[in-house]
Amino acid sequence: MAQPVSGFSKKTKAEKIKWLADTYLQDDPDAIQVLKQYWNDNPLLQQLHDDFIENTLSNYYLPFGIAPNFLINNKLFALPMVTEESSVVAAASNAAKFWCERGGFKAEVISTEKNGQVHINYFGDEKKLTSFFNQIKPKLIGNIKSIEKNMKARGGGLLELSLVDKTHILEGYYYIHATFETLDAMGANFINSCLENMAQTLENEAIDFGLFKEDNNFPEVVMSILSNYVPECLVRAEVSCNVEKLTTKNQNGKEFAEKFVRAIDIAKTETRRAVTHNKGIMNGVDAVVIATGNDFRAVEAGVHAYAAKNSYYSSLTHAKIEDNIFKFWIEMPLAIGTIGGLTSLHPLTKLAFKILQKPNAKELMKIIAVAGLAQNFAAVRSLVTTGIQKGHMKMHLMNILNQLKATSAEKDEAVKYFKETAISHSSVATFLENHRNSKN
Ligand code: MEV
Repeated sequence: MAQPVSGFSKKTKAEKIKWLADTYLQDDPDAIQVLKQYWNDNPLLQQLHDDFIENTLSNYYLPFGIAPNFLINNKLFALPMVTEESSVVAAASNAAKFWCERGGFKAEVISTEKNGQVHINYFGDEKKLTSFFNQIKPKLIGNIKSIEKNMKARGGGLLELSLVDKTHILEGYYYIHATFETLDAMGANFINSCLENMAQTLENEAIDFGLFKEDNNFPEVVMSILSNYVPECLVRAEVSCNVEKLTTKNQNGKEFAEKFVRAIDIAKTETRRAVTHNKGIMNGVDAVVIATGNDFRAVEAGVHAYAAKNSYYSSLTHAKIEDNIFKFWIEMPLAIGTIGGLTSLHPLTKLAFKILQKPNAKELMKIIAVAGLAQNFAAVRSLVTTGIQKGHMKMHLMNILNQLKATSAEKDEAVKYFKETAISHSSVATFLENHRNSKN
């Protein structure tokens, strides 16, 4: 049975791997080799990856792909996408091509404000806390000057500070709400440093504040942290065209547009559908967020909270037909950066930025929102026409063939055969078995 281990982080990589193999992988003679086969031959590159996190043992590869033909505000982009899901890049590429031929995507940044809170306990008279806050506000602002220096020089920094009374939802609970402009940085470290500094100022100043001394009730800081809920950092992307222009050889434009809008309305009203619908959007969003070295957990958390902003979980996309024009759009919060974090460290992230023509944060927000909209268009289009499995399984065929250890000749045969035949794990297994038998 495994025993607790101490000082693990101090061990060398080889010692950590040995410990892991001895403790959890005794019955797998190949385990160490599985880890080692992903080591990079270039020691500097490997060291860079080792240093990203603690206790790195190996590198976990995900495919880095590209979806071309994204016409965004009249400029053509190829989107770098990192994802493990077989059909995501193909779907994005299809949607990009489809809209490239119909005027492309239009995108605009609505707002760029980030925020954070110093969460406080205070069980005294609310008026005393308000008067304290108003008195120390200039100090709270003044004391973060050195942290803010570079950000201010670039035109960003703290925007506003306010005291929020939340005692109606939790006894004694207040917070200082701080809003920030962090420009091209996602800004998490900057915001958290500012907030922790403010928390310190608040506690220092509270000790000498006469009104608190009167009844010996002092505010206490519980924690200081940025919020990943950023409804004031919003981007919008849309596509639109005449419904007739949606007609293709397999699709009547008007019928398609009506069914599509209905599918969006269902996702707007039914949570069970909305979650899957938005998951499809995030297939595109996350793939670009990861390729550009941004924090996809922060984006995910903020986006889903935004989807529930009206107290029920709803679709992030909207669609309508008005005066014979089909319009499909997304509005979503995106706190991302093009400087700082992994963005200038990971060689593939740096390359992703070059592929994207070195966007600033606002431009990247637009690109990511478009990726989400395109992905959603592709998914809903499949859902209301052929169904999702046809395209999905076509892309998944290679995974099944790899699982069944097909040779490249067998793969070629399988691809030909399954052009006309429904793909499932068992149908591919049967095909391979028959194919192999016929060769013997
Ligand atoms: C699969 O990853 C995503 C979809 O389920 C999205 C959707 O249903 O809209 C196809």
